[in-house]
Amino acid sequence: MPSTRERVLRASTLPDRYGKWAVVAGASEGLGAAFAAQLAKRGMHLVLIARRGHLLEELGERLTAQFGVEVRCLALDLADPSFAEALVDAVGRLDLGIVIYNAAHVPVGPFVDAERDSIERAVDVNVRGPLLLLHALLPAMRDRGRGAVVLMSSLSGLQGAPHVSVYAATKAFNAILAEGLWYELRVNGVEVAVCCAGAMRTPGYDRSFDRDVPGMLSPDDAARRTLDALGKGPRLVPGLVNRIAAQVMGRFLPRRTAIRLIARNTKHIT
Ligand SMILES: NC(=O)c1ccc[n+]([C@@H]2O[C@H](COP(=O)([O-])OP(=O)(O)OC[C@H]3O[C@@H](n4cnc5c(N)ncnc54)[C@H](OP(=O)(O)O)[C@@H]3O)[C@@H](O)[C@H]2O)c1
Repeated sequence: MPSTRERVLRASTLPDRYGKWAVVAGASEGLGAAFAAQLAKRGMHLVLIARRGHLLEELGERLTAQFGVEVRCLALDLADPSFAEALVDAVGRLDLGIVIYNAAHVPVGPFVDAERDSIERAVDVNVRGPLLLLHALLPAMRDRGRGAVVLMSSLSGLQGAPHVSVYAATKAFNAILAEGLWYELRVNGVEVAVCCAGAMRTPGYDRSFDRDVPGMLSPDDAARRTLDALGKGPRLVPGLVNRIAAQVMGRFLPRRTAIRLIARNTKHIT
């Protein structure tokens, strides 16, 4: 007799495995929009969140026309803790299967020169945001006995990352949070994973970085690989070059060498 978890993993489509609806927080462009498109392609209805509602509406109309899925758009600022109530109201009794927290705020530059507003915003969006979102949505997923969650982290969250130190620290928080929740919730049929992505050419990347780095993936490729890897463990690193980099930086190099290597790239972020 297969266990609940085995039955869930055997189901072939994402809606069958996890539930019919997905929430993508931070979906108006870049990787979040790519997640939305990949989920729609696989038959998931969508609840999309970002501040720029008009971009969400355009994306939603495109995905409905292309894949016939239903899309609900929520123009919300994830730095404002009241987003959680608005989200619960909007999600209501939906058969929520997948939740992706993708939004991030990235303070760039030396920590001592940073605007206090910017570092607080990084904590609000990158740390409090995913906590409130999961605290609001996970109880119903646990009670339904199925679901999947992806928290976005980064290779820069595997060690200190000079010039983006606060951002990297928030990404480390997400990685550790997801690993703990992966263990807590898998017995209830809910798969929690962290995606430690390497560099991707997104609008956010292009605004702050002007060079390619080894192992770069397109946002579409990173989203597809992440969804394909759901259920395969707590820590997902899309792309072979990125997986090798994560192993080398995290396990084989002395910490100070890993930090120096990361600094060679992050010093070019503006
Ligand atoms: N790009 C990379 O190279 C890279 C590498 C490793 C990890 N990552 C991670 O991957 C994720 C996506 O990165 P990206 O490059 O695609 O980012 P991006 O291009 O800057 O897009 C971020 C998305 O989050 C939304 N967002 C930001 N702040 C928000 C807020 N306060 N409230 C609501 N929505 C908000 C933005 O929409 P609005 O502006 O419309 O609100 C946008 O849709 C991030 O978690 C990042 O840390 C990226």
